[in-house]
Amino acid sequence: MKGLQFAQRLNNLEGEAAFSVLAKSKELEAQGRNIIHFEVGEPDFQTPKNIREAGIAAIEKGMTFYAPAQGYMPFREAISRHVKKYKNIDATPDRIVVTPGGKSMIFFTLMSLVNPGDEVIYPDPGYPAYRSMIKFTGGIPVPVALVEENNFRFDLDELESKITSKTKLIILNSPGNPTGGVLTPSDIDRIANLIEKKSIYVFSDEIYDRIIYEGITKSIGSISSVKDQVIVADSFSKSYAMTGWRLGYGIMNSELAQKMTLMQINCNSCTATFTQLAGIEALNGPQDVVENMRLEFMKRRDAVVEGLNSIRGFSCMKTAGAFYAFPNVKSSGFESGDLADIILQESGVALLDGAGFGDQGKGYLRISYASSMENIYEALNRIDMLMIRLFKKTTAV
Ligand SMILES: Cc1ncc(COP(=O)(O)O)c(C=O)c1O
Repeated sequence: MKGLQFAQRLNNLEGEAAFSVLAKSKELEAQGRNIIHFEVGEPDFQTPKNIREAGIAAIEKGMTFYAPAQGYMPFREAISRHVKKYKNIDATPDRIVVTPGGKSMIFFTLMSLVNPGDEVIYPDPGYPAYRSMIKFTGGIPVPVALVEENNFRFDLDELESKITSKTKLIILNSPGNPTGGVLTPSDIDRIANLIEKKSIYVFSDEIYDRIIYEGITKSIGSISSVKDQVIVADSFSKSYAMTGWRLGYGIMNSELAQKMTLMQINCNSCTATFTQLAGIEALNGPQDVVENMRLEFMKRRDAVVEGLNSIRGFSCMKTAGAFYAFPNVKSSGFESGDLADIILQESGVALLDGAGFGDQGKGYLRISYASSMENIYEALNRIDMLMIRLFKKTTAV
């Protein structure tokens, strides 16, 4: 309506292609089309039974009231034990803040640390919320390229060259979305060296660190000389197939944890109480559920990568983590955005243009292979047929 205006900061907020392509593909489904969904990054598995039951039992027991803003203490204690075992991080509960999903931790971190004009280094291609939130807080986005030739890891010399007196924060995401690339332990050690004794924070998004197929991950939060400069974010969404439960946490110095708790008080009050009880069961219960999902994802990765490499115009690296393939389609003769559209419209396979993850993603597609083997083979076949048709058309002209 005339005269009514939004706050200017909203102009800096960006969306996510995953959600817009999902809306488009749902429209096609409503028109009766059969669509295979490779666009959204969420496990297709049900949340494991013991975790579902713990959530239901918590509701039945009346755990339906507000929880402490920082997180329910027995849950923070369980997280503390868990991160010691899986990330080698020493984190007492006062260093832990529980949030509704890992994404809140991205929001809270940027809101808590970045002043207008501060530079924030982030991976490109990278998870879209990073750049969006840097801009939203008035920070200056400083991308560092993740290139295929370097297994989609940071070029650490480039990273070092981008650090200036204005650098406030460096964002890491390993294993990474959208590429599946993984930083090696020596990469992490070098990054820790780069920030040691400087007023620079690191935000380490470790949401995929249990979904790794080769090599090992190292958390920068485990390095004691920099641990007060590091915010580690993790979530139950991917490892425990709990996307809709909205459960995550951050680990940081206790002073910052108090500030983040204030953010929580002003934003969510707390994370749902019964969800946190389900989280305790996830961490304390049998971990073979995580391992079984990882093994299944690995089978799918191998099938997807092999299948994509046999399709004309596609070449795909086998990256070591997460559940994404990031094929290079530069030799297809199409812009990646156009190709993603054609594949959706003509073959009924919903996937994402790599350019939606940053400039360096141009010429790539992101495929979330959190889908059944049957769907994977069917989708690969549809894309193969389409590319044969498209190549025939261009050579016929
Ligand atoms: C790299 C990365 N970080 C954070 C998130 C947020 O996940 P959630 O809020 O469900 O924990 C996602 C989700 O796709 C992601 O890929």
